[in-house]
Amino acid sequence: TWTTEAFVEEVIREVRAKVGEKRVLLALSGGVDSSTLAFLLHRAIGNKLTCMFIDQGFMRKGEPERLVEIFDHQFHIPVEYVNARERFINKIENITDPEEKRRRIGHEFIQVFEEESNRLGPFDYLAQGTLYPDVIESADTNVDPQTGERVAVKIKSHHNVGGLPKNLRFKLVEPLRKLFKDEVRKVARSIGLPEEIVRRHPFPGPGLAIRIIGEVTSERLNILRDADFVVRDEITKQGMYHDFWQAFAVLLPIRSVGVMGDRRTYAHPVVLRCISSEDGMTADWSRVPYDLLETISNRIVNEVKGVNRVVYDITSKPPGTIEWE
Ligand code: XMP
Repeated sequence: TWTTEAFVEEVIREVRAKVGEKRVLLALSGGVDSSTLAFLLHRAIGNKLTCMFIDQGFMRKGEPERLVEIFDHQFHIPVEYVNARERFINKIENITDPEEKRRRIGHEFIQVFEEESNRLGPFDYLAQGTLYPDVIESADTNVDPQTGERVAVKIKSHHNVGGLPKNLRFKLVEPLRKLFKDEVRKVARSIGLPEEIVRRHPFPGPGLAIRIIGEVTSERLNILRDADFVVRDEITKQGMYHDFWQAFAVLLPIRSVGVMGDRRTYAHPVVLRCISSEDGMTADWSRVPYDLLETISNRIVNEVKGVNRVVYDITSKPPGTIEWE
């Protein structure tokens, strides 16, 4: 029978045998797959592993700091933190089309990844959190005709765009390739990953950039980050975080009239999106208690400058999608 302990031991043996004294690069995203991978590989090969975290500037409030805190400070797994915020926001200046946003963010990711891996490298291997379902449709890897090994031609980074430059064709280390998502979570727990990572809601690679409808500016990012923080904070306080598949805020570029004190306001609406789902393919809007809706709405309008209205999205998927872009 399959046990997480046996799996962990097998992976450690396998990875040590495969990479020996060579160096391995891992792009950490904060999600459960790359985090589990980091824990496993750190156990197996220690400082032969380099974890790189590229901060695009589109994560939730406090998340990049928290990631570094957990890995670097709490578990002593060193993280190469790359602050690329300026670069990413400049790349999508004036871009309103959702797919163009994704494309540009994806390309910039590859660009930064290449520069940083050259700076920190050379590396022999790239570690990827490929799961079994990804292996089945493995369009992003080629098999090296000489060695029969899988080599990366594309980085699995949520950004399903762009190929890797020729000089960056890493050999792969993919110890999660036989696992399904729920098994990854079991392994994650058994090797001591904090619950906040193990049970984190899915978060899209392009992050908040696709939750700001239309043009992304730093001002809008700050507004959305603050509104989104209120959502997360309140549902956590109410003990409801795990009742949702995802729960988040979306910022609309339009403005509407409101009144605050004796003053008229003219500011952005925020959409609250709380959904339940099994796999993200279909989803139902959550029947959130009215009291919780009220608290979230009051807090956002009072605490987040630039927002004067909160609406609740009651569209299921299909016909809606989970994200707005
Ligand atoms: P949709 O909006 O298509 O989302 O119903 C389904 C699931 O996928 C996530 N999502 C993304 N994840 N990059 C990602 O890594 C993306 O560009 C992206 N777009 C959507 C979404 O959060 C939901 O969990």
